[in-house]
Amino acid sequence: MKFASIALPLFAFVTSVAAQASHIGYPTAGTRIRPGHPLSVQIVKDVCSFESTGRRAFADIQRWLSLWLRIACGGSIEVGLVLSLQTCTSAGNCPDPVDDLGFILYTGKWTQTGQNLGQGEIWDNITVTIPNETFTNPIPAQIVENRFHLIGAGPAAILETNTVAVQIV
Ligand SMILES: *[C@@H]1O[C@H](CO)[C@@H](O)[C@H](O)[C@H]1NC(C)=O
Ligand SMILES: *[C@@H]1O[C@H](CO)[C@@H](O)[C@H](O)[C@H]1NC(C)=O
Repeated sequence: MKFASIALPLFAFVTSVAAQASHIGYPTAGTRIRPGHPLSVQIVKDVCSFESTGRRAFADIQRWLSLWLRIACGGSIEVGLVLSLQTCTSAGNCPDPVDDLGFILYTGKWTQTGQNLGQGEIWDNITVTIPNETFTNPIPAQIVENRFHLIGAGPAAILETNTVAVQIV
């Protein structure tokens, strides 16, 4: 009983960490991008880790969680990554990032090409080319990341979607 009352909140925490969320590291919000030019898109994933709080009472649970996390995160499988560019009618007023992808810039898989373990981050830098279209300049736009991956022992299928606002100039 006692263990369950301690373990349940910890489980909730571990589940979110083990999901290995990603985010768009670059371009940053407001970056100006140019038609026909290359753009390096950085997709960053958080490394699975469990920060010890140093509380002795939880030492055994922490050791067990660290082990469990390593197993759980090792089991996460990358399936596919799509990067696209949407033009928006105004800043923040963009098409749905799943139903209306816009210009496809990249399809493939997330694979690690760099890391900063001090910050708990690993990433994939992908160089894409902005389509050489005639846009009405400058136009609000967004870079969209859709990442399909499997997590956990089930496993569960997860489609993660991230966007970052940019300007086509
Ligand atoms: C984009 O297209 C225009 C018109 O076809 C061409 O003149 C220009 O060189 C192209 N720019 C790039 C960067 O490919
Ligand atoms: C990857 O992209 C980031 C952000 O643009 C950059 O800081 C880094 O130097 C790039 N290259 C590598 C090899 O990580």
